[in-house]
Amino acid sequence: MSDTYPIIDHEYDVVVVGGGGAGLRATLGMTAGGLRTACLSKVFPTRSHTVAAQGGIGAALANMGEDDWRFHMYDTVKGSDWLGDQDAIEYMCRNAIPAVIELEHYGVPFSRTEDGKIYQRPFGGHTTNYGSSVMAKRACAAADSTGHAILHTLYQQCLKYQAEFFIEYIALDLLLADDGSCLGVLAWCLEDGSIHRFRAHQTVLATGGYGRAYFSCTSAHTCTGDGNAMALRAGLPLQDMEFVQFHPTGIYGAGCLITEGARGEGGYLTNSEGERFMERYAPSAKDLASRDVVSRAMTVEINEGRGVGEHKDHILLHLEHLDPETLHKRLPGISETARIFSNVDVTREPIPVLPTVHYNMGGIPTNFHAEVLRPTPSNPDAICGGLMAIGEAACVSVHGANRLGTNSLVDLVVFGRAAAYKALEIVKSGTMHKPLSSASEDAALARFDRIRNAAGKLKAGEIRLDMQRTMQTRCAVFRDDKLLNEGKVKINEIAGTIRDLGISDRSMIWNSDLVEALELDNLLAQACVTVTSAEARHESRGAHARDDFQSRDDVNWMKHTLAWRDAAGKVTLDYRAVHLNTLSNEVQSFPPKARVY
Ligand code: FUM
Repeated sequence: MSDTYPIIDHEYDVVVVGGGGAGLRATLGMTAGGLRTACLSKVFPTRSHTVAAQGGIGAALANMGEDDWRFHMYDTVKGSDWLGDQDAIEYMCRNAIPAVIELEHYGVPFSRTEDGKIYQRPFGGHTTNYGSSVMAKRACAAADSTGHAILHTLYQQCLKYQAEFFIEYIALDLLLADDGSCLGVLAWCLEDGSIHRFRAHQTVLATGGYGRAYFSCTSAHTCTGDGNAMALRAGLPLQDMEFVQFHPTGIYGAGCLITEGARGEGGYLTNSEGERFMERYAPSAKDLASRDVVSRAMTVEINEGRGVGEHKDHILLHLEHLDPETLHKRLPGISETARIFSNVDVTREPIPVLPTVHYNMGGIPTNFHAEVLRPTPSNPDAICGGLMAIGEAACVSVHGANRLGTNSLVDLVVFGRAAAYKALEIVKSGTMHKPLSSASEDAALARFDRIRNAAGKLKAGEIRLDMQRTMQTRCAVFRDDKLLNEGKVKINEIAGTIRDLGISDRSMIWNSDLVEALELDNLLAQACVTVTSAEARHESRGAHARDDFQSRDDVNWMKHTLAWRDAAGKVTLDYRAVHLNTLSNEVQSFPPKARVY
């Protein structure tokens, strides 16, 4: 294979795969700490999907009212429907505060209060005093383009430390030692078509989620979960893949995000009867209940005939009662998005919205130091040497069955930072690399070559559409045994059709046909484990709402799902315990109770 594909070698202390918020925060910390770090990104870093994050990053700064990191922790545990690991959640909520202050010092242009502090707005499920009816103002916002502000600032900081970027490089597969530990990654450079072998003491997967497995999502077209799929091919499991978040307010038809911050600023939802229906579903938090709760309520309203529009198939989000000055100052981005994608002037009329796939709670299992787990029956927390995962690609698990709004940006910076701390502790810069056999590189190149030369009759776009429609209808907001079983059979059949894939362009330089096919192959593997994990979980918890098992079942199901997929496409499941312990004595763990808002 290496005759067909000559390989260019690189040696680094660490290689970070992904140039979004998590990848950049890790790259920054590692480079500034003296490790030779390469950051590979399939798009220019400032075009990564973090750029789309809108409403804010949660941290209990208490700039605009009472707050405490313990309240943040409680809300996150409750939001996770008690599937989140409480030690990791404590780590995240405590460290959110210094991590956000660091961002401020790096130069993130946060919006400001009258007295010059970081502006903070309410968000869904953010409360004070362990669930009181007084909502916390915790979302630190840069108007409604917080992700954009953070991403650009982190990239500038990386440049300041002269971090090394490999831009428009597609990671193909992990390079593995015989014992399964990771020794680096193989990548394809789109610009000149060359293949590169990056050897590293730690490889960090910061490759984002796989929203594009669905038909309607807020995710960029690049969100194909490439790292998750590489982990599966490396024989590692993915965790809690059945938990897929639907954001309540995607623009009807287009799917673009309208931030929850819009409801944080006073926006509200109505049905065809003009009723503010969230008052019935969440009497206390109303429109600011947790996302899964609002998405389900909207879906019930539509299913019971109270949707709006010609097909009675969506809901209205009202902002027109807000002061135009607030809209201009705090929500300029979504005002423009609503105008472009739904022809709505938000100062005059409501926005048509629909729950839309937004986030994957599941991913590569890690501990809160960002080290990837390779669970065994005797040690569910065993570590896979040489490999870390952060951001949406990882399942730490801080989001459990449902992520709270703003906790994604927190997760990116807190665990990007944690990965840097860990790497600085365990990697000695400049040490010799372990010997590398050619087996895993040959397998990676064989897959690449097979897809590149695929001569079947189906285009990647046709198979992708089949997958996306199946996921959208069979693994959606509400699920049951019939839907999920049909989904499982169908998605496996669709995954099988990859054998009939045809590529029309065989070139190596900027071959977008081949990029899409590789991404499709990655998405199909994740779609298969998602439906299989969902079919097996016989309860309702967080974003996994089953009509046939409507209650949460803590006795049998308070456990993380682990899903492996072998080369023949067979998915195997197992489970690992949720961590109910805290890290310190400064907070008590939160025992499970009914989740009402
Ligand atoms: O609604 C939003 O602004 C999205 C935030 C998030 O997903 O954390």
